[in-house]
Amino acid sequence: MDIRIFATPEQLARAAAQRVFQTLRAQPDIVIGAPAGRTPVGVYAELARLVGGEKVDRSRATVFALDEFVGVDGDHPASFGRFIREHLAGPVGLAADRCHALNGMADDLEIECQRYEESIARAGGIDLQMLGIGTNGHVGFNEPAEGLIAHTHRVTLLDDTRKANASSFGGDTANVPREALTMGIGTILQAQSVILFATGESKAANIERMVHGPITSRLPASFLQAHRSAELYLDEAAASRL
Ligand code: GLP
Repeated sequence: MDIRIFATPEQLARAAAQRVFQTLRAQPDIVIGAPAGRTPVGVYAELARLVGGEKVDRSRATVFALDEFVGVDGDHPASFGRFIREHLAGPVGLAADRCHALNGMADDLEIECQRYEESIARAGGIDLQMLGIGTNGHVGFNEPAEGLIAHTHRVTLLDDTRKANASSFGGDTANVPREALTMGIGTILQAQSVILFATGESKAANIERMVHGPITSRLPASFLQAHRSAELYLDEAAASRL
């Protein structure tokens, strides 16, 4: 894994946004996979600033949101699809019909997952998959488990994940959905390049395990060790145990 360490989250955001910007400029028909969460906010804001400063063709780029809560519609404030529209696709100026998200309200969630996997395949697969990491080592909503599912699927959220997401649901863990839809670990590993962002000390132990530990479904992020082009963008706090 290619590990880059920055003194502050702001420096990380600037470097990561540059990295994505250069790729978008060189490959205007890029297909991007993108996470919600606190960590990528600065990266997306900086990317929007870079794109705004230069004439870059954004009409052909496509984005796929990484995951979504079950029972949450695309306009709910906690929707990850909405997050990607508001923080990435909108500010960067991507075409609305090229911004894809999972529908957590679909009548048949299994068919919805299949539909999503097929649209990713139809788009030619993901070129650049951005990721965050959960405090329990999940990527997307691929939770630590005895085994992992390769494709986009429905998942039961663990208690610590529901707790970590409570702030988006009025601060009450009881309001956080018990299930989510997520790209699978195979969907993620099939991307041409993967970039994971992590900041803060709460991520340090899992970053150490993901870099130096064995590949294990108990720490889904560790599967990135098997990817041919995985880059980790870390601030010093997240890298403090490496
Ligand atoms: C959430 C999402 C992930 C995200 C992670 C970290 O639960 N499912 O896609 O990367 O947790 O979020 P944050 O960046 O806010 O720490």
